[in-house]
Amino acid sequence: MKNTYKALEVSAPGVLRVVERQVSEPRAGQVRIRVEACGICHTDAATITAVYPGLTLPRVPGHEVVGRIEALGTGVSKWKIGQRVGVGLIAGEDGVCEPCRRGDTVNCENPVVSGVTADGGYAEVMIAEARAIASVPDELTSVEAAPLLCAGITTYNALRNAGLRGGDLVAVQGIGGLGHLGVQFARHMGFRTVAIGRGREKEKLARDLGAHVYIDSATENVAAVLQRMGGAKAILATGTSGDAMAPLVSGLSARGKLIIVGVPQDPIQLNAFPLVFGGRSIHGSLTGTAIDSEDTLAFSVLENIRPMIETVPLEKAADAYARMMQGKARFRMVLVTKEGVAQSAQPAA
Ligand SMILES: NC(=O)c1ccc[n+]([C@@H]2O[C@H](COP(=O)([O-])OP(=O)(O)OC[C@H]3O[C@@H](n4cnc5c(N)ncnc54)[C@H](OP(=O)(O)O)[C@@H]3O)[C@@H](O)[C@H]2O)c1
Ligand SMILES: [Zn+2]
Ligand SMILES: [Zn+2]
Repeated sequence: MKNTYKALEVSAPGVLRVVERQVSEPRAGQVRIRVEACGICHTDAATITAVYPGLTLPRVPGHEVVGRIEALGTGVSKWKIGQRVGVGLIAGEDGVCEPCRRGDTVNCENPVVSGVTADGGYAEVMIAEARAIASVPDELTSVEAAPLLCAGITTYNALRNAGLRGGDLVAVQGIGGLGHLGVQFARHMGFRTVAIGRGREKEKLARDLGAHVYIDSATENVAAVLQRMGGAKAILATGTSGDAMAPLVSGLSARGKLIIVGVPQDPIQLNAFPLVFGGRSIHGSLTGTAIDSEDTLAFSVLENIRPMIETVPLEKAADAYARMMQGKARFRMVLVTKEGVAQSAQPAA
């Protein structure tokens, strides 16, 4: 086997270049993965522009990673060589901080973060912490599974942990990588599902993905439309604009929740009135743990939910990233390595 591998490295802010790296052995508690596919998440922009807190360069981005284990570090007993696994954003907790000691490992104060504190999946090879990898079911191809490990888990967890009941009115704002999966999860969890996008261009796709209703925020008053429908019990805000999130509060029912998963650069400027009168609330939700990833993958198999993807060879990562940033991806760009192409040509096991 070659002792070097290809990776896409951020060498300086805004510079994503192909490099050849030396294959290294996994340390204790780690595995080495031969990457097949890696989704391009909007959060990768925080690595590529070098604004993610705690980031040091050079760094390989990518936290929607699927591949096969090819080497085990000492002490790894749960996983086997050849097994197909996935890695998400939060890729290892320290186990000793207060959130960890309370069992809230996704909010670890000193986590391993793929593509930020450790090299991620824009590469042919990735080293991962064995405690933070997820098993990938045979029903999903690697390119299908990859986006579920961040865009999927983030929207699935946010919705399933929101205290909702079947039939509730639930809206998803922003129909991109996260949003197009959020719409599918909301529909398949049994909610009356509204998609909120800018313009009419994505309306048909949003309806095909399961939205009962589509609201065009460019021409309609979103809060007024939601209130005419009785008010949303939850709105999942996936967009990258704080200005677009703030007015959503007025579209909530009494006790409704605005769940923020998008991370805009601009502030969300809130009016206290609809929060106080009606007991509405707003809170954030951060992706999830490896076992949440396995739940997301299992639910996607159960309900036949798949990301809508465009695949590109690993070497074309910079072009694919640019397409995502321009809002042109429908809906997730997924990088595929030579290994990923070879594996997808094999008959299913
Ligand atoms: N909480 C978490 O754990 C977590 C996990 C992953 C990603 N994220 C964050 O979630 C956000 C979305 O990620 P993604 O991968 O889905 O990105 P994406 O595929 O690039 O989609 C971006 C979305 O933002 C919307 N948007 C952009 N500009 C907007 C504006 N001015 N007003 C309203 N909406 C606007 C777009 O809406 P249209 O559909 O109307 O074009 C689109 O749906 C990013 O901020 C990312 O960092 C958070
Ligand atoms: Zn992500
Ligand atoms: Zn911790």
